Amino acid sequence: MSQQWRRNTLLVHAGTPSLGGIEPTALSIYPSTTYRSHSAQALDQLMGGEVSGFSYARHGNPNVEAFVEAMRQLELAETGIATASGMAAIDAAVYATQVGPGDTVLISKDVYGASLNLVGTIWDEMGLKVVVDDFTDLNRLEQSLAEHQPRTVLLETLSNPLLKILDVPSIVDLVHRVGAQLIVDNTFTTPLVTRPLEWGADLVVHSATKYIGGHGDAMGGVVLGREEYRQRLRQYLKLRGAVLGPFEAWLLHRGLRTLGVRFEKQCFNAAYLARILDQSHQFQRVFYPLFPNHPTYAIAKRLLPPQLGGAVVTLDLGGNNKDDIFRFLDNLQLVASATTVGDIYTLCLYPIIASHRNQSPEERANMGITDSMVRVSVGLEDPEDIAADLIQAASAIHSPAKSSVE
Ligand SMILES: Cc1ncc(COP(=O)(O)O)c(C=O)c1O
Repeated sequence: MSQQWRRNTLLVHAGTPSLGGIEPTALSIYPSTTYRSHSAQALDQLMGGEVSGFSYARHGNPNVEAFVEAMRQLELAETGIATASGMAAIDAAVYATQVGPGDTVLISKDVYGASLNLVGTIWDEMGLKVVVDDFTDLNRLEQSLAEHQPRTVLLETLSNPLLKILDVPSIVDLVHRVGAQLIVDNTFTTPLVTRPLEWGADLVVHSATKYIGGHGDAMGGVVLGREEYRQRLRQYLKLRGAVLGPFEAWLLHRGLRTLGVRFEKQCFNAAYLARILDQSHQFQRVFYPLFPNHPTYAIAKRLLPPQLGGAVVTLDLGGNNKDDIFRFLDNLQLVASATTVGDIYTLCLYPIIASHRNQSPEERANMGITDSMVRVSVGLEDPEDIAADLIQAASAIHSPAKSSVE
């Protein structure tokens, strides 16, 4: 399918296989780990990469290829791979940038907690120098880039739980000025809303487990970028072996086809919910990227299409009392107290026991994450029902006076 199609058309059609003139609307699932060759010479050519085809599941699978092809078209990439999880995708992307012992990776302090943990443990043990900094301040970032001369820079388009939108086009310029490569985790905005390669980013990663799959039944990741990354990305899969399974690829690809309607509706629900909750006086503060009091509102308005401010709302219940937040979570009846985002169901996560569990209280305070904050991944239910559930759960605990935060 050609890239002339717009995003919603690509979502529905991209990656549709063509099997010798017959066009199945849904590809069969190929669980086979290995493929018989009709001749030793054909297998030799296949293994040597002289001809394309399938030989062994760690080297490639039809369902995985179809899913990657769809993602490649959507993100305007030249090449890509699918991995067993979003974490493996981040690891693969960093590997693709050819970092080695002594090289510096500069990472936004607002990235997902496990990404920070990956950096602080495995990459650190591999001898990479890791610097964590605030990417919302472009002057500071410019200085940090000049001082540390990183090889690779990692950020997220929309962070959580504070829902900061970064000025990716400006950051691309700064990063390239020092000869570094930029990896953008596009999980929270999806290719429906942002396509970082279009802004000049070098690699894009996704946790496909989230909005792309959308139904909470398949885990996977994707890395996409320019042709020059192909060989190292493929090598990562073959040698590290963190491949996506065919069943997961099939489910994620099916999920992708409805991403347009799901994500638009989830963004609409999130905006609507945020307004109801903000007026409810049960929450000390409601974070939503398209609220004028959000610190990155001006960037969100510039970079995001109207109405598509993401599908997450973060609530600060005030009081900083863990027991109260536990009671709030236990009071929820419709909203699931669970750790992920992006499903069709509304989910509520308590960052200090989940996504940011491994950060120290000081690190969390430095990030602006309080002990009374919960993150709501807004689903497809009626937003009035979601709001009613969150309000009843909050009203059952101590209800602080609302302060206005500008
Ligand atoms: C922004 C972001 N990137 C990456 C990941 C990791 O994805 P996975 O859980 O599929 O490994 C997550 C998981 O929550 C995430 O929120």
